[in-house]
Order: sequence, then C-alpha cells, then structure tokens
Amino acid sequence: MARVDLTNAKRAKKDEFYTQLGDISKELKYYKPYFKDKVVFCNCDDPYESNFFKFFALNFNFFGLKKLIATCYNGSPIAGDELPLLFDDMGEEPKKIAYKVEITEVKDYNSDGAVNLTDVQYLIQNDKNVLSRLKGNGDFRSPECVELLKEADIVVTNPPFSLFREYVALLVKYQKQYVIIGNTNSLACKEIFGLFQKDQIRTGYTNFNVGMFFYVLDSFEKYHHIENGKKIARVSTSCWYTNLPVSKHNEDIILYKKYSPEDYPKYDNYDAINVDSYKDIPCDYYGAMGVPVTFLDKYNPNQFEIIWRGGDIEWAEAECTFYTPPTKEMADNFKKQDKTWRIQNPYLLDKDGYAHVVYQRIFIRRRQPIEYQQQESKLPMAAEEQAKYNKP
Ligand SMILES: C[S@@+](CC[C@H](N)C(=O)[O-])C[C@H]1O[C@@H](n2cnc3c(N)ncnc32)[C@H](O)[C@@H]1O
Repeated sequence: MARVDLTNAKRAKKDEFYTQLGDISKELKYYKPYFKDKVVFCNCDDPYESNFFKFFALNFNFFGLKKLIATCYNGSPIAGDELPLLFDDMGEEPKKIAYKVEITEVKDYNSDGAVNLTDVQYLIQNDKNVLSRLKGNGDFRSPECVELLKEADIVVTNPPFSLFREYVALLVKYQKQYVIIGNTNSLACKEIFGLFQKDQIRTGYTNFNVGMFFYVLDSFEKYHHIENGKKIARVSTSCWYTNLPVSKHNEDIILYKKYSPEDYPKYDNYDAINVDSYKDIPCDYYGAMGVPVTFLDKYNPNQFEIIWRGGDIEWAEAECTFYTPPTKEMADNFKKQDKTWRIQNPYLLDKDGYAHVVYQRIFIRRRQPIEYQQQESKLPMAAEEQAKYNKP
C-alpha cells in the first residue's frame, strides 16, 4: 500500500505543472483559422484553474468556436476547490469533485469589456452554458470523458506527463486534432516516434529547446521563482506537439556543408554517417545519416525521410538491413572502458579501435531531388494557404 501511495505521490509531483496564459497564447495564435466552428475540449483542466480554459473562454468569439468543453479530474490536488458552493447536494463530502463545463455562448452583456469572461460563475449564468458533475472521476480515459472526446474536434491541453503516451494513443484512436504540451523525452519513444515517421505529429511553434515555466503547487520545494504569490518552476524538457500544420515543417533546412568521409565518419555497426547537428547535414549526401533527436523540430517530410531510431534492437535486428552486431571483441573492448554497453546503439571507432557510442540518434535519409519535387505536401493544407494563415 505504501508503495502505491509513493508511486501516486511521485506521479502527482510529475504531473502537477500548470501552464501560463502567456505560453498558451504564444503558441495558439498560430492556429486560429483551424478553430473556426470547432468544438474544443480541454480534458485535463479544472476550469477554475486552467489557463487553457481561460484562453478559450476569452477568445471564444475571436476564434469563432462552436463549443468549449473542459473536464476536471478529481485526482488533481486543486480539483473542484471552488465548487462546494455550487452543488447543494455536496453535504459533508470531500471537496474534490469531478465536473465538466460546456460553453456555447460568451457574451459581454454590457459591452464595456469589463466583465471577466474567464469567470466560470459568470459564464454559467448564461443558460446556454452548463456546469455539471461527472459520474466518474474525470479521468480522460473514462467512458464519459471519451464520449466528450468523440464530440470534440480539437483537444488542447497540457496532459499529465506520466500518461503522455496513453493520452496521445487515445487522440490517435479517435482521430482528433490536437495541440498539446509534452515532454521532449517523448520524442524518441517508440509510439510517438512512429507518429513522427508517418508525419502524423509534429512539434509546435514555440522555441523547442528552451523549456517552459509552469505554476506549481505551494508544496513544491524546488521552484525557480515566485510570481504573484505563486511558485513557478522551469521544465527544460517541455514542448508543444500537434497534428495541425506548422509552417516550419514545410520549410527546407538550409544545407551548406559538403560531405567528406573524415568529417562524417560511418558508424561501425550501421551503414550510416554520423551528423552531430541538423545544421551540419551535408548538402550532397543521400545515404542514411544518424542525427540527434532534436532534428525532429526542424523536420520537413518533403525534404527528408525518417528511417527509424538507433537504439531499437527489435528494429535493428529484424528490419534494418545495414545493422551489424558488434563483434564480441568489440563489446569486450567497450566494457573495459567501463561504459554502459547497449549493443544496438550506433558507435564510432577511434583510430585505436575503441568504440565510442554517440548520444541518441535517429536515422534519416534525404529525399532525392526528383522525388522531392514530386512529393506532394502531406500536411492537410496547401503550402500557400498555410503561409497566409501562419502570419501571427
Ligand atoms: C500537467 S497538469 C496541467 C493542468 C492544466 N492542463 C494546465 O495546463 O494548467 C496535468 C493535469 O492533469 C491531471 N490529471 C492527472 N491524471 C489525469 C487523468 N487520468 N485524467 C485527467 N486528468 C488527469 C493532473 O491532476 C493535472 O492537473
């Protein structure tokens, strides 16, 4: 039992990061045209606390939304803190309850703009908007939340990091559009990486490698600073993921370096050259290349093809025709250097024959110019149309 509690506590600690309105606005402004007449669902969001809900309530008319739904999970430490006043059947029950808010109309009654449209109580004074209790706990996987998901067109939130893969799998299953925050560590996990390979997910607009600042619970001991009485922590490994078009993924990476075997050595176990940064990809090489995972933030599927990721033994052994398992001698050699040895990791040999495993790599191949010209945009919108929309 204690073990379970500890796991839950750890998970909660990992999951309770609340997104700032500025960060939401910075990213979402690029997608405005895709929201017209759409049902937006924020399914990990206490409307009283969530800036995702606030953002869409404030921009309901500006974005031309058809409906905004938010559900609150009762496992969240902040869930439903404001609600006992609203439900008269609450009695002595604990205050954490799961509920949903459905908004279909946002009015500025006296047109002076002074009313705070993010005020849930104000919003539900409108008969067209409803606040109601959920039967279950508001888990995004629960049948009633899945029913709401089916009704939605676009899901937008920062879901619990600990359930990210499961979360994305559900969105894929129900073929939903989404703009969500996740951890950059998820880029290379099998399921998410597979979506990148099929061009069914991409990174968003916000600068990818700088991390983001989130509100955290008062009980957090490690935080960066305090703002308006709230603790703020930095998560260096967070980024936006979406399956909506993002213009940078339609732009070519400018390549200017020339290939030479000295500058781009081949791995000893893969028939691919090593490239240390996407900026160094040679302009005259069309074979397989190992690049850092951060390449995905610049990836244009019209310019490159993703082969798969290094470090995946199943793939390397079963499907990768150019993988050669290291010799026993080589493995022993490497062990002698007291380094962790994962046989499938791409490694380079130095002049003395010692193996050096490179940091996580994915394998890509440049599309041939002819193939490249013939390749139609895989993104849902035509390039010119996107260019028009993507101006902030
Ligand atoms: C990273 S926080 C983000 C909260 C809010 N979306 C935001 O961005 O400010 C993730 C939230 O999901 C809640 N959560 C955890 N497990 C959940 C589940 N199974 N279903 C729905 N929400 C869950 C957490 O309690 C937490 O409030």
